[in-house]
Amino acid sequence: MRTNLEANWAVTPETEQKIVDTAGRYQTEPWQLMHILLDIQKIANNSFPREVAVIVSRETGLSEASLYSFISYYAMFSPSERGRYVVRMCESAPCHVRGSKAVMEAISKTLALQPGETSGDGRFTLEYCQCLGLCVNSPAVMVNEAVYKDLTPGRAATLMEDYMRGDYDA
Ligand code: FES
Repeated sequence: MRTNLEANWAVTPETEQKIVDTAGRYQTEPWQLMHILLDIQKIANNSFPREVAVIVSRETGLSEASLYSFISYYAMFSPSERGRYVVRMCESAPCHVRGSKAVMEAISKTLALQPGETSGDGRFTLEYCQCLGLCVNSPAVMVNEAVYKDLTPGRAATLMEDYMRGDYDA
């Protein structure tokens, strides 16, 4: 079930302070930019909307253009709001020949979502992505920053059920 989450999330004084505090790490740890931006994305419901980029730009001194060129390069970032758990299934050739289609079908059936959709409760977003760099252990899936390798349809369905039960933190 697709839902428009963009209408549900907005910067509040509390979330702005969290973004400011997290972005502030850039001043002493600029080499941690990737982790800093991922942490900020978590605060903003797994998204990087413009209002967040404006705050991050102000706090880091990085231009919005350079921020967007960074986050548009890496598939784990999204300008659109997503669920608490972003399930990303590799659709590149090595995973495809080792059964990623059947794994995706099992995940899709378990979550009752098609690729590109977010659950009505805002918990799950299902996406296809390109190679995750785990080809020797394909098919591979990421759920937020956690990696799951050598999946079968049965293992993938069990994994999703574990997430649905709340066995993992975001
Ligand atoms: S092709 Fe799927 S991880 Fe590389």
